[in-house]
Amino acid sequence: MINDSDPKKLIKSLCDEINRHNKLYYVDAKPQISDKDFDNLLTKLEALENKFPQFKSESSPTQRVGGKPLDVFNSIKHSIPMQSLSNTYNKEELFKFDERIRKLIDESECEYIIEPKIDGVAISIRYENGNLKYAVTRGDGITGDDVTENIKTIKSIPLKLLGDNVPSILEIRGEIFLNKNKFEDLNKNRIKEGKEPFANPRNACAGSLKLLDPKEVSKRPLDAIFYNLGEHTLDKIDTHFNLLEKLKKYGIKVSPFYEKIKKFDLLLKNLDKLQNLSNQFPFEIDGAVVKVNKLSFHSILGKTSKSPRWAVAYKYESEQAITRLNAISIQVGRTGVLTPVAELESVQLAGTLVKRATLHNYDEIIRKDIRVGDYVIIEKAGEIIPIVLKVILEKRKQNLKKFEFPKFCPSCSTPIHKNNEEVAIRCNNNRCPSKLKNWITHFASRKAMDITGLGESVVEQLIKNKLIQSPPDIYELKLSDLINLERFGEKSAQNLINNINDSKKISFGRVLYALGIPHVGKTASETIANYYQNINNIFLTTIEELEEIDDVGPIVAKSIEAYFSNPEYQLVIQRLKNYGIKFEIEYVQSDETLKGQTFVFTGTLPNLSRNEASEKIELRGGKISSNISKKTNYLIAGEAAGSKLDKARDLGIKVLNESEFMKLINN
Ligand code: IVH
Repeated sequence: MINDSDPKKLIKSLCDEINRHNKLYYVDAKPQISDKDFDNLLTKLEALENKFPQFKSESSPTQRVGGKPLDVFNSIKHSIPMQSLSNTYNKEELFKFDERIRKLIDESECEYIIEPKIDGVAISIRYENGNLKYAVTRGDGITGDDVTENIKTIKSIPLKLLGDNVPSILEIRGEIFLNKNKFEDLNKNRIKEGKEPFANPRNACAGSLKLLDPKEVSKRPLDAIFYNLGEHTLDKIDTHFNLLEKLKKYGIKVSPFYEKIKKFDLLLKNLDKLQNLSNQFPFEIDGAVVKVNKLSFHSILGKTSKSPRWAVAYKYESEQAITRLNAISIQVGRTGVLTPVAELESVQLAGTLVKRATLHNYDEIIRKDIRVGDYVIIEKAGEIIPIVLKVILEKRKQNLKKFEFPKFCPSCSTPIHKNNEEVAIRCNNNRCPSKLKNWITHFASRKAMDITGLGESVVEQLIKNKLIQSPPDIYELKLSDLINLERFGEKSAQNLINNINDSKKISFGRVLYALGIPHVGKTASETIANYYQNINNIFLTTIEELEEIDDVGPIVAKSIEAYFSNPEYQLVIQRLKNYGIKFEIEYVQSDETLKGQTFVFTGTLPNLSRNEASEKIELRGGKISSNISKKTNYLIAGEAAGSKLDKARDLGIKVLNESEFMKLINN
């Protein structure tokens, strides 16, 4: 029940509590409560604010997606212009920068901070008396676009600064970026919707900030990091390092990496260290930034019309290469989508030998006019998969033919199918060997049925030997079938049989994902499973009902309906059911096996998110704490475990890895 005795006070304390947990989740990545409890707090606050609108503040956590769609962005003049950075491209240029600095300031106090140069979109956010007032893009450095409503949807940006002693004015400057690990999914969805994919996370970020409807922006995986100030009334801060520490205290997210450095050779070492760490960051970097640490030196060093003299960007060697496109091959995906792949003359790129690159789809090849025999520039996108950026037309030999998409599937020779509603071109033959291989490999993959040992090459052998032709056949495999295959011994064959049997415990949501229904990803599968509870209800549903579910758009709904009305897939499901695969949600009886036990997390677990692991503990009556103390019973340690691991060991607290934790939970 809502206690109305002092609603104003209650609203304030709920806001504070939500803001605190918001920071723990989005800024510190150390949540203390479950998502469900967090949502409950928000619902409670919303109810109170509806009842007492006079006490609702603009910076209330309920106001993140409050804004209506705009017609156009207004302009706002920056109180202090937003400058740029001058660039250095090699160690000699950086050495000259260091030399210049040392000439102008006291050598003994010369200290630098090195930070990643985040490849995002620059932003300036103004807080007045702790409340977010407005957010402006860089624009031309003098005036920018007012993107306040869009920025407010980014959960790691506080709407209200934390702490009591906040300055009356604080402008923070930093970078908005799109989480690079979620970029591929965003593009996949765009392709499904027939939209042009974004070229890279930076473009996707810029595009997202330009959306006029904040509701749409809130669906994009945006985040922010801050590294500088605009106008402010902060008490004196002596160094850039302490500025970052101070920002953190206000709940503002700063770079996960910044190092204080005195010597030039250490500077170089740290540039390499930063580059090596960069694939672990959720943002792309386009170099490092070296800044003089002591702020009083900044005014001594001054600035040019474009950039400050106390900082410099150091650009890592460009991760591009030029090579010849020898051929374009076509890959057949599990849902039959045909994806063109560039077969390249091997070339060294960012430390690896690259032979292939993605060409996305037919429309992209035509747009970039890529022809076999061309010299192309390739680049590492998202630092992982190389892409073909463009053709070097000057190097094109005469008579190179325009690329024509094959008319028949390269795997099974069935005529291909182009649907006007989507960019993708497909093979619709359900017996297509490539499609089968990818379908079954998807079914067995870690996020689906999690059958270790049933990877692509084993699936390929099983298909070749006519041992499997669809997912249910997996459950008929016998030890004797496997022992005769290449690279199988008795032990590995028995392990695979055991893993196949274990997969029968996989939850309905994951089974649904494993079926490989076109356009239905992991999140949508979980949502649909939770909504319908039992597969029979999905057979009985309609497109209209499906579309009412969050995460399910018209394309997904149509695809589910087509899948479930196909007799071939109906048989697949029936057979899987017969083998004991779960096609309904299981209710976990609440148990108290962990009652009185306190758990602490450190590092990242290989499979479970902290939320998932916390839920499992709380469901069994256990408690989560953020700090190690004598009262802690278990420390669950993942990769890159922090100092908590040492502390736990000092105190003799039991340390569990993920699989030990799962054993504890399952016993
Ligand atoms: S400091 C006076 N630090 O790169 C400018 N900038 O190419 C102070 N950037 O304009 C900027 N990461 O938008 C700074 N750690 C970082 C940065 C960073 C990215 C952006 C920023 C800047 C641009 C220059």
